[in-house]
Order: sequence, then structure tokens, then C-alpha cells
Amino acid sequence: MRYRAIGIFDSGVGGLTVFKEIAALLPGENLIYLGDTARVPYGTKSVKTVQRYALEAAEFLVDQGVKLLVVACNTASAVALPALRERFKLPVIGVIEPGARRAASSRNRRIGVIGTEGTINSGRYPEAIKALVPDAEIFSAACPLFVPLAEEGWAEHEIARLTAVEYLQPLIQARIDTLVLGCTHYPLLRNTLGKVLGPGVTLVDSAEETAKLVQQLFREQGLAHPAHGGNRAFFVTDVPTRFEAVGRAFLGAQLTKVEQVQIG
Ligand code: DGL
Repeated sequence: MRYRAIGIFDSGVGGLTVFKEIAALLPGENLIYLGDTARVPYGTKSVKTVQRYALEAAEFLVDQGVKLLVVACNTASAVALPALRERFKLPVIGVIEPGARRAASSRNRRIGVIGTEGTINSGRYPEAIKALVPDAEIFSAACPLFVPLAEEGWAEHEIARLTAVEYLQPLIQARIDTLVLGCTHYPLLRNTLGKVLGPGVTLVDSAEETAKLVQQLFREQGLAHPAHGGNRAFFVTDVPTRFEAVGRAFLGAQLTKVEQVQIG
């Protein structure tokens, strides 16, 4: 079992931020990534549609014989985890619980959450944080423009700063001390968000926290791969050209061996 790969899926290229953190923390693991690039974005789609897409993406990875499924997409984690856990027998980890766990260490218990429309409308982050800190006050904001800005390579551009000022103003006024980056793309905007919010606000990267949870789970269950230098394989549902070009910034490395597949 421990020799099997970890399956990671996302609506597209963004989940490579989660892939990157897992690869850094668990370098011996074999990793299989699926980006549903033919159907991205998930963040603006209905709950039913995202659930169907997530089940189809997961099925592809389960068919590869993975030992663990990581739902890197915040939107899919927000609406499809129960359906995935019901359908498949293997452990399924999403990015919401790990992010919420870290946010729970907020000192003033005034916590901001940003994500896609789908993630924010689901209310899953506030639910998960309040389960840990019942008197926490959560201030949420959908920030859809951050996704194209990150993909355009403009995460540190003046346009990104102005957009962040606009989106984050109500959260700054609410005096949050912690902000959950509840979308795969937002770690790329870390510097810009940090400048707008100032040093008093802790940024919680759900991707990083998810990788730590995978490591903890493997330790507890003896599932870690014993070797070093695991294999990496990338699959997409549309032609790989854009994924390869844009994905570089998300992965922090050149993407090799990207294969197009059909799912669903
Ligand atoms: N991966 C999505 C998320 O983390 C962002 C992109 C999309 O809307 O599909 O919510």
C-alpha cells in the first residue's frame, strides 16, 4: 500500500500549489496530478456540477490505484467531500479542514476568509473554523479576479494591489488578525496581500497546511513511501499547452510529461 501514489486533483493549474507543498514535504512519494482544464473554472459553477466533476476526476485517480486522494481545489473541497468519501473507500483529504485548523490559532478570533464564489457561498470555512473556535467571528469575501491575475503572471502587479485593496477593505475594517487564503491561486498573491494587510495579519496558506496533514496522516497510518525521489505524473483534460506554460509559476519548476486524458 505504501508504495502506491498520492492522487491530487484540481479544476486546473491552481492545485499545483498544493502539489508543490506535498512534493517538498514528502519527496519520496509518487504523485499523480489531474487538472480538469477542459472544465475549469469550478468556482463559478453550481454545487451539483462541481460535485459531478469532482466525482469524475476522483474516479480517474482511483483507477490509477492511488492510496490517498487530495482534493486540492477549495471549491471542490467545499462542496464535494462528503460525496467523495461516500463513493470511494480510500482516505480523502480536502484543503478546508487543514486551513481552518491553522486559522483557529487566531489571537483576537476575528478571522477573514477569501476564496471563489463557490467556496464563499458554501460557508464551509466558517463552519470548520467555528467547530474549533465557537466564538470566532468570520468575515468572508469572494475574490474572483485573483484567479485570472495569478494566471496572467500579474500577482505582484499594481493592478493586483488595487484589486486587493478593494476586496479586502471590509476585512481590514473588521480588524481581522488572520486571513485564510481559501483558493489554490492565492499563495501566488501572498506578497501583495501581505503589503495591503500589513504585518499584523497572519496569512494562512491552505496548501501548506494540507501537505502537513498528509504527512501527519502517513506517520500515523504507516503509509509513507520509504524511498527518496518519487515519480511525478501530470494529467489534464484539455490540450496541455496552457497548463505547461502557466503551471510553471504555480509549481516553481518546469512541467514535464503532461498527458491529456478524457474523464467522465
Ligand atoms: N481551484 C479553484 C479553487 O481553489 C480556483 C479556480 C476555479 O475556480 O476553478 O477554488
